[in-house]
Amino acid sequence: MKMKQFNLLSLFLILITFFGSANSTIVSHDERAITIDGQRRILLSGSIHYPRSTSDMWPDLISKAKDGGLDTIETYVFWNAHEPSRRQYDFSGNLDLVRFIKTIQSAGLYSVLRIGPYVCAEWNYGGFPVWLHNMPDMKFRTINPGFMNEMQNFTTKIVNMMKEESLFASQGGPIILAQIENEYGNVISSYGAEGKAYIDWCANMANSLDIGVPWIMCQQPHAPQPMIETCNGFYCDQYKPSNPSSPKMWTENWTGWFKNWGGKHPYRTAEDLAFSVARFFQTGGTFQNYYMYHGGTNFGRVAGGPYITTSYDYDAPLDEYGNLNQPKWGHLKQLHTLLKSMEKPLTYGNISTIDLGNSVTATVYSTNEKSSCFIGNVNATADALVNFKGKDYNVPAWSVSVLPDCDKEAYNTARVNTQTSIITEDSCDEPEKLKWTWRPEFTTQKTILKGSGDLIAKGLVDQKDVTNDASDYLWYMTRVHLDKKDPIWSRNMSLRVHSNAHVLHAYVNGKYVGNQIVRDNKFDYRFEKKVNLVHGTNHLALLSVSVGLQNYGPFFESGPTGINGPVKLVGYKGDETVEKDLSKHQWDYKIGLNGFNNKLFSLKSANHHQLKWSTEKLPADRMLSWYKANFKAPLGKDPVIVDLNGLGKGEVWINGQSIGRYWPSFNSSEDGCTEECDYRGEYGSDKCAFMCGKPTQRWYHVPRSFLNDKGHNTITLFEEMGGDPSMVKFKTVVTGRVCAKAHEHNKVELSCNNRPISAVKFASFGNPSGLCGSFAAGTCEGAKDAAKIVAKECVGKLNCTMNVSSHKFGSTNLDCGDSPKRLFVELEC
Ligand code: GAL
Repeated sequence: MKMKQFNLLSLFLILITFFGSANSTIVSHDERAITIDGQRRILLSGSIHYPRSTSDMWPDLISKAKDGGLDTIETYVFWNAHEPSRRQYDFSGNLDLVRFIKTIQSAGLYSVLRIGPYVCAEWNYGGFPVWLHNMPDMKFRTINPGFMNEMQNFTTKIVNMMKEESLFASQGGPIILAQIENEYGNVISSYGAEGKAYIDWCANMANSLDIGVPWIMCQQPHAPQPMIETCNGFYCDQYKPSNPSSPKMWTENWTGWFKNWGGKHPYRTAEDLAFSVARFFQTGGTFQNYYMYHGGTNFGRVAGGPYITTSYDYDAPLDEYGNLNQPKWGHLKQLHTLLKSMEKPLTYGNISTIDLGNSVTATVYSTNEKSSCFIGNVNATADALVNFKGKDYNVPAWSVSVLPDCDKEAYNTARVNTQTSIITEDSCDEPEKLKWTWRPEFTTQKTILKGSGDLIAKGLVDQKDVTNDASDYLWYMTRVHLDKKDPIWSRNMSLRVHSNAHVLHAYVNGKYVGNQIVRDNKFDYRFEKKVNLVHGTNHLALLSVSVGLQNYGPFFESGPTGINGPVKLVGYKGDETVEKDLSKHQWDYKIGLNGFNNKLFSLKSANHHQLKWSTEKLPADRMLSWYKANFKAPLGKDPVIVDLNGLGKGEVWINGQSIGRYWPSFNSSEDGCTEECDYRGEYGSDKCAFMCGKPTQRWYHVPRSFLNDKGHNTITLFEEMGGDPSMVKFKTVVTGRVCAKAHEHNKVELSCNNRPISAVKFASFGNPSGLCGSFAAGTCEGAKDAAKIVAKECVGKLNCTMNVSSHKFGSTNLDCGDSPKRLFVELEC
């Protein structure tokens, strides 16, 4: 009997092992690369954050990533979104992480799960829930029992969710790597010996979860084994893992940059981004991830900061709405195809480098079957003409030539053949003029005048400590009695507030005194305004507004928020200044604004139909006001945006769902922009910025899934500063024009992205010049009529492909000189 049982059991185990291994993938690594089922791999990955798009957008984003030549999708996991209150979890809708990973899986891609749970990511509070900070004796990211317990609880929860759905590669799923912590190496020294102990604990904790695939730690030199350390930055060619058995991996190649309110639009060229990637692979890299590949939108109040905008477009290869950001997407795609074709030599080949002088190096990767080469020119100004293996190559400054078989340049990072798409707002249909109703933010008078709140404390409190970040708004209110003999009494009295509020609005005795907003990163400032005080009781009401909690830096969780004081009344009497410090007074606090608490934005709210919204006297510059209008959704499938030009600052909802904070009245500074951007030389987040002196963000993404196609839709605005909603418009974004500057002996592909090409505005083969929109023919041109050829191939079609050659466009009639011939095209969509 015993014997029989044993046999059955072992048969069962054999079957499990057999079927298990048939499905499962073994992911491991050696000093050269990540290996999948024993094969070293080149992995091309891109970050897409699931809550920064809507779940209906995921399949398209992922398929465009795949089409762009990626094989892996990286995402962070956002703790504060998933556990908004302790032990109450939310994985619904756009937070459906399992569904996101399964969408990646069904596209046939791998995934990297960056659990963190500290993520930074320009996400509110770096991903940490604020309730965590408000637990007793709490200290983040160090040896602190409360913190470690919560971090372990959340990490385990995520790991178990993935395991239950068999999503790790070891179980047959797409997740090939997971990340614990994030860039702790950047801050570890601030935590002293505890920092080291903490990161060791992280490694042990992660390891104990037994996920069957390797763990990574980014920006963590000497990561505790077996964690693999990785690099983040604009360039990682110079990076060498401190552990010689770790492969050279790059978790964040920043494809552009994020925006702060008051900042300009960042722009990183396709040439420079491709250069950084090619350099990385030239210098032994094998895993590279774009951060971001699709940046998306900070819906609701998820933007971190402080001061991160609602758009998280990032100038990524896929734009905020999911359109191809061309030429970036296409120029990288070509590079990806080549790198993949070189996988074997890059991961198994012997490496030799040849110094060709003037910062030019050639690198040869060779196996018995195949050799692949790179020629990199890291000189920021000088182009190079080099002889390599008996052939001449022209390698422009700050570029890499890729020679898949070592004898012919198939690609150069500085020679872009992909079209540039100019995305415009569609003005085909005259946008509907909205009929607004409005109402004041109610009972503010009670707050402002009487100072009645939800809680009372002696002294000033830190905003997030009392709000738990349930709202951007916190009222600080106090009373002060002044009699005739009060030493501060004078003709010239002012209110002085030392503040860390991102925005501060001040009222004295029910009258608005003024506001101050943080500018130029001065988060700690002094507000002072002249006030009228009375003999007897004076009421002070200060509204502190936060615009995203800090997400980066050592001990960022305990950085001050709100009005930290001192708050003083100041009397100026000739040369003498007398101060009355109110900081230790009794203060009343009120969390949030009544309109929010009563969900004025919600269509379901019980109050919705009962409350009066007025059509009369629509105010155009009234603080603390609510506006509402019905509108028809723009037809079709193109992404929808709402133009909020004319408004001040606030939050906007579509059919009850918040699409984020808005602040179109905040312009960037006038200087620091350039017409033309030189891709050469090191990129930094300020380089090549554009839109100087313009609103940092004027257009806001309205996901299609928030709209009812038929029937009516409602937009609700809470206007905090005062603004005019009469200019608000819904539009779609489309490809308006496309331009290309393709090089001879290449193919050029042209497309208006799902719309037919309508006309050829310019076409010349030879040596044309100029910027898109103002191309001009040069001194030589092909014998055939280029515009006619392009019109025949392209007009009326969704896309067209042409060889850029003399055969196609005719030999050039005049001497084009030595310069290689190019085809410049501008098409109307
Ligand atoms: C990195 C961080 C990311 C993101 C990025 C900047 O340091 O790991 O989460 O914040 O910077 O966009």
